[in-house]
Amino acid sequence: MISGKMSESLNKHMNFELQSAHLYLSMSSSANEMGLKGAANWFMVQYREEMIHFMKFYTYLVDQGTNITLLASKAVPNNYKSLLELMQKTLAHEQVITSCINELSEQAVKEKDHATQIFLQWFVTEQIEEENNDRDLLAKLKLVGDNGHGILMIDAEMAQRVFIVPPGSPLAV
Ligand code: FEO
Repeated sequence: MISGKMSESLNKHMNFELQSAHLYLSMSSSANEMGLKGAANWFMVQYREEMIHFMKFYTYLVDQGTNITLLASKAVPNNYKSLLELMQKTLAHEQVITSCINELSEQAVKEKDHATQIFLQWFVTEQIEEENNDRDLLAKLKLVGDNGHGILMIDAEMAQRVFIVPPGSPLAV
């Protein structure tokens, strides 16, 4: 049993995770349009991970007896100029998500909601990894600048990313 306030906050964030999935799907298409198939793969994997995050929130809320509310999806941008811009926007987006997860965790602590605190722990750790991966790629992109060969090498690295369903996930997409 979670409070109405907690369930409302989690429901709101669940929609944010779905919005994140749409954002990365759009980024995958933009990377593909730039001729960067490896980056398109990387963002497609990111999209699938966000769908898992969305479903984790969905399942938790349903298991806690919440009738979830799906909000209408907002349009996401698709007018990126470079891979560098895509990664800058990605890191900025993940930093916002991290703040939201931290706020949810603070609310759960305040409400002495132990179940939600445990549920959110996975996301706290996940955000460290997400931001770290983005920072690594961003650092490499800054190093190569406009050098086409360097960008293609990073694209080849991004092609290696594989989607792995986290253990115990509610849905493989
Ligand atoms: Fe679901 Fe990338 O945070």
